[in-house]
Amino acid sequence: MKQNKYDDTIFFDKYSNMERSKNGLQAAGEWHELRKMLPDFEGKRVLDLGCGFGWHCRYALENGAKSIIGIDISQKMLDAAKSKTKSEHIQYMCMPIEDINFPANSFDVVISSLALHYVQSFQDILSKTSKCLSNGGDFVFSVEHPIFTAQGLQEWYYDDKGNILHWPVDQYFTEGMRKATFLEEEVIKYHKTLTTYLNSLIKAGFEITGLVEPKPEENLLYTVPGMVDELRRPMMLLVSARKK
Ligand SMILES: C[S@@+](CC[C@H](N)C(=O)[O-])C[C@H]1O[C@@H](n2cnc3c(N)ncnc32)[C@H](O)[C@@H]1O
Repeated sequence: MKQNKYDDTIFFDKYSNMERSKNGLQAAGEWHELRKMLPDFEGKRVLDLGCGFGWHCRYALENGAKSIIGIDISQKMLDAAKSKTKSEHIQYMCMPIEDINFPANSFDVVISSLALHYVQSFQDILSKTSKCLSNGGDFVFSVEHPIFTAQGLQEWYYDDKGNILHWPVDQYFTEGMRKATFLEEEVIKYHKTLTTYLNSLIKAGFEITGLVEPKPEENLLYTVPGMVDELRRPMMLLVSARKK
């Protein structure tokens, strides 16, 4: 099931008001780690799966990419992306990630930031990604961490005074659809195990070149309310891989 939640007016407005939506990559908690995993973009052809407001597309352009295609299922996200983009070297296409069908050797770099947990089959996307990526090309993505997606509700357990008790992990080995709560809205996501992410890459002929479970930046830990709790469980998984 392909859900297009970001075209829902209420959800879109709430998402648009997040710090990372207003202030871009610098306001994204994982950016300090993800940027280190990105390849040299100079002269490269780049595909961004689930590009949203296009922050990573514009970063690739600013860092020398020759051409960038950003795809997203949400027209509202793409309209906002277009309004923030001045260059004709970035092209935005409204389509589900599941439907990509680019010819072989179309891209040197494929990136995807926090979109692939909305997609049911990682293996299917991987085989389409592998097909359109050049040999030696880079695939760098972030997803919500399997520990974060396993139980499904995506909420801490609290005691009766409202203090955090723990993060629930359950049904870890049962992959598939979860009805999560994000921005007080029900959103459909797909849980996959760590084994699925990593072994699928290996079986698809990728070399894993980096893996990070990002922690918040030191300076944010005690200045942003609640940030210190982010040390209690991983929220994201960042992976870089190279097609052999
Ligand atoms: C959390 S946002 C991330 C946006 C952007 N990559 C970023 O990091 O700023 C997730 C994005 O994935 C898109 N998305 C979700 N499911 C999708 C699908 N099946 N195909 C294409 N885009 C999808 C949403 O519309 C949304 O723009």
